[in-house]
Amino acid sequence: MMMELKTGIEMQSETAARTGLSASPDLFGELAHDQHQLRSVPEVGAPVQPVEAHTGKTPMLCSGKARLYHGDCFHWLEACPANSIHAVVTDPPYGLVEYTEAEQRKLHGGGKGGVWRVPPSYDGHKRSPLPRFTTLRQADLDHMTQYFAHLGATLARVLVPGAHVFVASNPLVCHLAASALASSGLENRGIITRLVMTMRGGDRPKNAHEEFPDVTVMPRSMAEPWLLFRKPLEGRVQDNLRKWGTGGLRRISQQRPFGDVIKSHPTRPSEKRLAPHPSLKPQAFLRQLVCAALPLGKGVILDPFAGSGATLAAANHLGHASIGIEISARYFELASVAIPRLEAFKCPDTPNSA
Ligand SMILES: C[S@@+](CC[C@H](N)C(=O)[O-])C[C@H]1O[C@@H](n2cnc3c(N)ncnc32)[C@H](O)[C@@H]1O
Repeated sequence: MMMELKTGIEMQSETAARTGLSASPDLFGELAHDQHQLRSVPEVGAPVQPVEAHTGKTPMLCSGKARLYHGDCFHWLEACPANSIHAVVTDPPYGLVEYTEAEQRKLHGGGKGGVWRVPPSYDGHKRSPLPRFTTLRQADLDHMTQYFAHLGATLARVLVPGAHVFVASNPLVCHLAASALASSGLENRGIITRLVMTMRGGDRPKNAHEEFPDVTVMPRSMAEPWLLFRKPLEGRVQDNLRKWGTGGLRRISQQRPFGDVIKSHPTRPSEKRLAPHPSLKPQAFLRQLVCAALPLGKGVILDPFAGSGATLAAANHLGHASIGIEISARYFELASVAIPRLEAFKCPDTPNSA
């Protein structure tokens, strides 16, 4: 069911009823004001400007230390004060077309075709739809490059010096996103490889698989690249850490640095049931990124493409303040119930995330 766009008190009582969260002023009390001030920005060295919602009419919900806004992240970020966010962990809409209204209608049953396809089943199991990036035309790819350059420049302004940015990507288009982000003033800091077996690639030649039984057209995907960027430092790493609380990544332990390969798994059905978003990332993985993103364990994490709120849930789980923005009413409403559920989700197989 699509949620009607509402603001203020109407949304306060309805969402509180759905989520079971208290409808106290803590939850929505500042919605009607012209300026909303995030209360729980932790102090890191020199004072950090508090993050404000800027548009009092933007629907917003709070869950623990997470604030989720319903709107377009570019509009929200334009009004966000400079130097106010300490890290970004996000999973943007890569094809840029897969989250348009038309494609979402096709995905959710109102139409045929589109970029969302159910991968072929080799073992009799039904697969979830995935966006097909091979359907993108040159114009879409050019648009994507411009989009990521704009995203990088927009983020660079609101980030504090030394803030890290983790951006989910995929092997077919990560080169475009990486060069666009690098052109926007952020420093390229490498790639975090999420080891995960997806249903992409590994396909046989169409209508000729018997003639060429030993051929794979594209490698079967076994890894998901996450691009890592950083806003340039102010001074040395130690200066930046003291002043802004950023510049490095949090170690796994004093003996073990954060590494650039993380073993993962596709999001399990038990987790998807808590947050049925088509691109849900698993908590076991997100918690490791969110933890690494704040080297001193202080600051605000941003996810401008929040989806079900999985990054915010990971931040809540770890006790960090976070801000999300989600453009779709469907997913904003989903996040209102998904964040507390995902935050409480137990990931027994991932030692660093529990
Ligand atoms: C790939 S999904 C993120 C899913 C998320 N990682 C999760 O685990 O739930 C991208 C999300 O960005 C949202 N989105 C797309 N364009 C946006 C924009 N300009 N501002 C805010 N959200 C946007 C889409 O509606 C979609 O839910």
